[in-house]
Amino acid sequence: MKIAPSILAADFSKLGQQIKKAESAGADMIHLDIMDGHFVPNISFGTAISKMSKSISTLPHDAHLMVTDPENYIDELAGVGIDYIAFHLEIDGRKKNIGPNRWVYVVNEIRNRSRIISNLKKIKKLGKKAGLTLNPPTKFKLAEPFMDKIDLLLLMSVNPGFAGQEFIPGVYEKLEEAASFRQKKGLKFEIMIDGGVNMENAEKLVSLGADILVSGQSFFKSPEFQKFIRRLKS
Ligand code: DX5
Ligand code: ZN
Repeated sequence: MKIAPSILAADFSKLGQQIKKAESAGADMIHLDIMDGHFVPNISFGTAISKMSKSISTLPHDAHLMVTDPENYIDELAGVGIDYIAFHLEIDGRKKNIGPNRWVYVVNEIRNRSRIISNLKKIKKLGKKAGLTLNPPTKFKLAEPFMDKIDLLLLMSVNPGFAGQEFIPGVYEKLEEAASFRQKKGLKFEIMIDGGVNMENAEKLVSLGADILVSGQSFFKSPEFQKFIRRLKS
């Protein structure tokens, strides 16, 4: 099992230091939450910060593109050496309001098959691992046709946009479906869970087939990163 701290939850006044500290504490990857303020109700950072992180840490980096047009970011992120690039299956979906200034993109049918496939191909052609991300309301069934074309399946366990939200347990069933589909078809993609991961749900997630757990607030708010990683892994 790998742990990928999400630097969205780090102390931005000492971001470089926090990334280095995460690396020496035993993190396996660095998770980069890239947002455009359109696909999700928040704006975070982009290629410049991703490049900085990559320049100070030798860990693999994964970019989680919470953006409507991943096409605009893939080349740049690959260019600064980001190892995994994942975008959302809901990019041509519909905006669903879920509260004041809060929304999530949802999709009920895939009308943009060729766009999804060409983005995945593009990422691979650039020598990077290609990832597809599913929002909590999105059915795994819709993603099945793309499973033989991905290296990473990123399952959201919160509606994306912010660190520190509560885990949505609906992801367990989706994770089981994805893991059994992977086994049945003899596929090798990794499964990453993102949002609200903590000491209480980590064990179950791993036992159901998760390979990588993203950890934002629970990681960066813990007094000792190394202890947190040891506890989570044990
Ligand atoms: C949510 C992001 C997550 C988030 C994880 O939009 O994609 O990666 O930062 O943070 P926690 O673990 O605090 O939910
Ligand atoms: Zn994320």
